Parts: sequence; C-alpha cells; structure tokens
Amino acid sequence: MHRRDFILGAASACALAASVGSSLASRGEYLRQIAASKGLLFGSAMRLSSLRGKTPYSEMMASECSLYVCGDMQWRLVALSPSATDFSKVDAAKAWARAHDMRFRGHSLLWHQQTPSWFAEIASRESAIAALQAHIRQMCSHFKGSMQSWDVINEPIQTSCGSGMLRKSVFTEKIGPEFLDIAFHTAREADSKALLTLNEYGTEYNIPDHLRKRRELLNLIDGFKSRGTPIDAIGIQSHLSTGRAAETDQESIAGFFKEISDRGLKIMLTELDVVDRASPADIATRDREVAQLYKRYLDAALENRAVIAVVTWGLTDKDSWITRGDDPKFRRPDGLPARPLPFDDHFRRKPAYEAIAAALQAAPSR
Ligand code: XIL
Repeated sequence: MHRRDFILGAASACALAASVGSSLASRGEYLRQIAASKGLLFGSAMRLSSLRGKTPYSEMMASECSLYVCGDMQWRLVALSPSATDFSKVDAAKAWARAHDMRFRGHSLLWHQQTPSWFAEIASRESAIAALQAHIRQMCSHFKGSMQSWDVINEPIQTSCGSGMLRKSVFTEKIGPEFLDIAFHTAREADSKALLTLNEYGTEYNIPDHLRKRRELLNLIDGFKSRGTPIDAIGIQSHLSTGRAAETDQESIAGFFKEISDRGLKIMLTELDVVDRASPADIATRDREVAQLYKRYLDAALENRAVIAVVTWGLTDKDSWITRGDDPKFRRPDGLPARPLPFDDHFRRKPAYEAIAAALQAAPSR
C-alpha cells in the first residue's frame, strides 16, 4: 500500500483556495467524470423537494453526480399503515436518476429513527419479524434492478451512552439481535444485485469512543461472515468536524479501512460533510480549514481500493442538515450559517469542491 503522507501546508491550501472555479470547471470536468476515471462513483443526497421542475439544484446534481442517494424512502415515510404504502414520490426520484444516467442508492430499509409508529405496537416477536420481512421484501422487490445499493440497516451500533454492542432499539426490543441477519437475508432474497450495506457513524476519529465503535463494527462483520449473512459493503457516514482535525488521523483511518477490506467488504463514504463550528468566522479561513479536512480524510480513505463511492450529504451549504441546525451541536457559537459542503448558496464551487476533486484525481484506480 502506498502511504501518501500528505498533509496540506498553508501554502498549498492557499493555492487550493485560489483555484476555486477555475481549472476543473473550465475544462468541463465534473466530479462524476473525475471519479469515473478512477472507477469510483461520486454522489450526493438530494431532497425530493429539490427535484420539482428543472431547478438549478437538480441540474447541478445531474452534472456533478453519478449516484443519487434518496433519503426520502424511510419506512415511516412510505408505509403509513401496515397495508398502505406509497412509493410514488420515490418512484419519481428513481425515474429522474435514470433519466440523468445516475445510479440510485436507497437510504434506508431499517433505521430506529424512521420506523413507523404502528411497528412499535406489534405485540408478538413472530408478527414483528413478519412485518419487518414484508417491508424489506416489498421495498427490495419494488426497486429491484434499479438499486446500486441499499442501506439495509442504518446506525445499529450502540452509542457512547449505552452498553453492549447493539443499540437498544425497537428492533432489538421486539425481535432481538437476530433482526440483522433476518434483514440482510430477506433483502438478498428479494434483490440479488443491489449491494447490501450496513451504514454507521462515529467511527472516523482516533478517539476512544470511535475506536470502540470500530471494534464493534468489525465484530459484527465477523459474526455475519461466520453465519453466512449476506453483507456486501460498509457505509462510513463521514460526518467530520474541523474541531476534530487533529484526531482525523490518516494512518488510523487507513488501518480501519484495511480491516474492513481484508474481510472482503466494499466501503462507501456515504454522508460526507464537515461541521465548521470550531473554525473562525472569516470565510476564507473557514473554507480553507474545511477543504483541508476533506482532502486529508479523502486521501487516506481513497487509498483503499475497496472504497467504491464518495457521497456528500447535500451539495450546497444552504441545503445541509448542519446549516439547518437539525442537531444543536452543529450550530456555530457566533450564529453564522455553516459552510459544510462543496458549493455555496449561489451554486459556486468552494475550496471544499477543489479538495474533493483533487483527492479523486489523486486516488489510485479501481
Ligand atoms: C438527516 C437529514 O439530512 C435531515 O433532513 C433529517 O432531519 C435528519 O436526518 N445520519 C443519517 C441521515 O443516516 O439520514 C441523517 O440525515 C444524518 C445523520
């Protein structure tokens, strides 16, 4: 493995900032093309509301991305009751992706935060298993042939405040830890082609809690392997923060990714963005720190050829869950809007864009 010991110095960071909107754009190259030249997918999540009509947002998405992640297909959103499902909105998203020559990724079949309330009311374990299987079967059959990958399970590992390996959730409560094997088997039976993925956050830094989560994740994979549970890929959410730049350690990331790829699994960076609350207000400085972190993280990650896709969680700053302050932890103490993504609110490329482009360009070919 070639270890590029690449940490951006101040000088190269300035050069990065100065090149915004220049070279790549004028050469007519978009991230999807740079990624494709290395055998990678570049994608983003986009909300369905951004798809209505031909918006500048959707046009930019189509130019830059080869993978569209639809986060609006959660169980709670498509199944208001056990018998009533509505796929019409997601069908439109799927058709749009196809019309723009993009692959389609489903987020997610199971997530404790997005489970319909009626599921929690099911009394017996058998009925809960039947409902979970019916949901997965229905989703995977309906979208069969269209999916690049499915997040079969989102965020199953315990957070720092709990104990044990798996997060206590409606799934462990109703079914027990076997819900994971059941979910992956059911998904595979209904769609043999889509990559089946386990998506998780909180494994990116060289800090005790993330190192613990890495171990739990690897233990889970080992369990899946020993039982023959069909899993193809790990989604590393990759929500980063400039306040954790020092702990975003390239060697530790490379080591963790190698542990995954040595187990024969692919890796996707599934929700990449950078919280900038620890960075100064000055926009040039802030954008530079954010870009440096994108570059440092991606250089370490993309060195591993098992990484097949880079996905940002939105494209423009305004559109980000970080800027919206969905989690109060993300808000800047000075109240300024966050700048976590590759484009600003006017669809202009930021240093983060150039950092992603440079990292894709430097990646070894798959
Ligand atoms: C976020 C969405 O972007 C927000 O709009 C929503 O309010 C909360 O969820 N991990 C995930 C994503 O897997 O689904 C989350 O997305 C971000 C954290």
